[in-house]
Amino acid sequence: MDQDELFDIELRLLLSGINQAYGYDFTDYSEASLKRRIMHWFVNSDYATLSDAQARILRDRDAFESLLRGITVNVSEMFRDPPFFKAMRETVIPHLLTYPFVKIWHAGCATGEEAYSTAILLNEEGMAGRFRMYATDINNAVLQKARDGIFPLKEMQRYTRNYQSGGGKKSFSDYYTARYDHAIMMPALREQIVFASHNLVVDSDFGEMHLILCRNVLIYFKPTLKERVLFLFDNCLLPGGFLCIGLKESLEGRKIASRYSEVAPKMRIYRKSYG
Ligand SMILES: C[S@@+](CC[C@H](N)C(=O)[O-])C[C@H]1O[C@@H](n2cnc3c(N)ncnc32)[C@H](O)[C@@H]1O
Repeated sequence: MDQDELFDIELRLLLSGINQAYGYDFTDYSEASLKRRIMHWFVNSDYATLSDAQARILRDRDAFESLLRGITVNVSEMFRDPPFFKAMRETVIPHLLTYPFVKIWHAGCATGEEAYSTAILLNEEGMAGRFRMYATDINNAVLQKARDGIFPLKEMQRYTRNYQSGGGKKSFSDYYTARYDHAIMMPALREQIVFASHNLVVDSDFGEMHLILCRNVLIYFKPTLKERVLFLFDNCLLPGGFLCIGLKESLEGRKIASRYSEVAPKMRIYRKSYG
């Protein structure tokens, strides 16, 4: 048996052990990318074999969290895909403004940049005090960073450009304070967002939402898991509510697609029908 086959066996055992010990089920994640990430984590670790790693991971929550950080891709940015945020301002906000109060769920929020961006946008569009935003992720380490709301100052130039091309109405620097090489987001923004742990594979929904954003998360899932997660979103989205997925993702061919129409070409903003 070659080393690669052995690694695959150890990998299956490790994933099954993690599921039993911690309730995190990665069975329906895309295999190639999951294996690549675990392999990358493993070669940068001190373990001689994946079985050695398993013995530790199953006994030590911190060791598991370290692997989890290696498995999940947590890349995010403020006003990522600026045309998407412009389309939100133009097509989603006018509808949200017709409600006295709206509930919003960011699923797979990573370090929170997207949730902060949406909060800024809602405030600028006259929705301050009229929304509650939940931002969730499977990875507790990134959630803590999101709660802290402290980002590298060197990114702020790029984020300012994103903000402006996304239709920003003020100066992006109004939203943070620079301290040494960090940018600290305005506390008033942080207070508008509830960051919480939530696993899309096993946890239930959050009740009735007017807007759900789950961008750049479904790409890591196999089709069966994509379907399940989309059903979860469909269950808690109100009729007339909006579902936003990543620009590389689509509802085409998905079971819930017949209840949705894409409201901004190519921006993957879908509206749920009333029927
Ligand atoms: C690439 S980031 C996307 C961040 C943000 N939505 C964006 O587009 O900039 C993907 C996030 O999905 C999270 N994730 C992966 N599996 C998840 C699951 N089963 N439940 C909840 N979040 C998950 C990861 O931890 C990671 O933070």
